[in-house]
Amino acid sequence: MRRNKVTIVGAGNVGATCAHWIASKELADVVLVDIVEGMPQGKALDLMQSGPVEDFDLRVVGTNGYEETKGSDVVVITSGVPRKPGMSRDDLLATNKKIVGDVSTQIAKYSPDAILIIISNPLDAMCHVAKHVTKFPRERVVGMAGVLDTARYKTFVAMELGVSVEDVHGMVLGGHGDTMVPLPRHTSVAGIPLTELLPKEKIDAIVKRTANGGAEIVSLLKTGSAYYAPAASSVAMVESILKDKKRVLPCAVLLNGEYGHKDLFIGVPVVLGARGVERVIEMKLNADEKAMLDKSANAVRELVTALKLE
Ligand code: APR
Repeated sequence: MRRNKVTIVGAGNVGATCAHWIASKELADVVLVDIVEGMPQGKALDLMQSGPVEDFDLRVVGTNGYEETKGSDVVVITSGVPRKPGMSRDDLLATNKKIVGDVSTQIAKYSPDAILIIISNPLDAMCHVAKHVTKFPRERVVGMAGVLDTARYKTFVAMELGVSVEDVHGMVLGGHGDTMVPLPRHTSVAGIPLTELLPKEKIDAIVKRTANGGAEIVSLLKTGSAYYAPAASSVAMVESILKDKKRVLPCAVLLNGEYGHKDLFIGVPVVLGARGVERVIEMKLNADEKAMLDKSANAVRELVTALKLE
């Protein structure tokens, strides 16, 4: 038997934090790839040296090429530029299109059977780039946004009610942007509907703060964007795949008629297991929720059109 192997492209804030969490959970050997010479090698060696303290037996290597990534089971793509204050995720489109396109080409060459998890923004558009370049089936190209948006949402609900985050259940659908779709009607605290626990104004404020969750952190950090929660969310997806847990997580997936949309990556609940996206779960949305999802889909479609993928 061999250990699982995960490649993380982009050894910056999100990538290095992913590696850290994968190692601490002892999930897989890790290959960190970056264009900056020495940096991924240095971070990999440093992380390896925490093994004797944290008790994990893994191989962590850093590289500027792709030879080492050969035969990866899962590849997490974080390479790209992050947001600065005043920028929207969409402002990153052209730069990250080139980066994600180049990287995905290399990954497909060395790991043709890998499952790709896309993190680079604008997320839904970058999923289209990776899918287009690799021609991988939709089961094996999945975007990380919903898990993060949901984590932010649950955090705010738990903070507002003064309860454990463990007891907050809910989901955020849609694209990873201002038009994301939190679902208060489907949110509960230990089974009690959120709508019974908080007045509408408070729920509205939480929904608004969730949609603005990334920008709130960008404006505080000033030099980059969030990375702890994005990395933790990505690793939850990696874990569900490697352990074939079949968790139901909101992820960006290429819709094929589900929710009334086709050929568009958008955040919906999926079953994530060893084969990647094993199933898209279609939940019943009311007219308002469907309208919000459609609005979100339109925003994604505009960006995809601007990508001009041939
Ligand atoms: N190949 C490999 N690595 C690259 C490439 C490339 N072609 N181009 C850029 N990188 C690397 C950079 O050198 C940098 O180390 O990607 C890394 C990105 O790291 P950070 O700048 O720290 O950005 P981070 O906060 O990790 O965000 C990465 O995730 O959340 C999204 O919007 C965010 O798109 C951004 C991505």
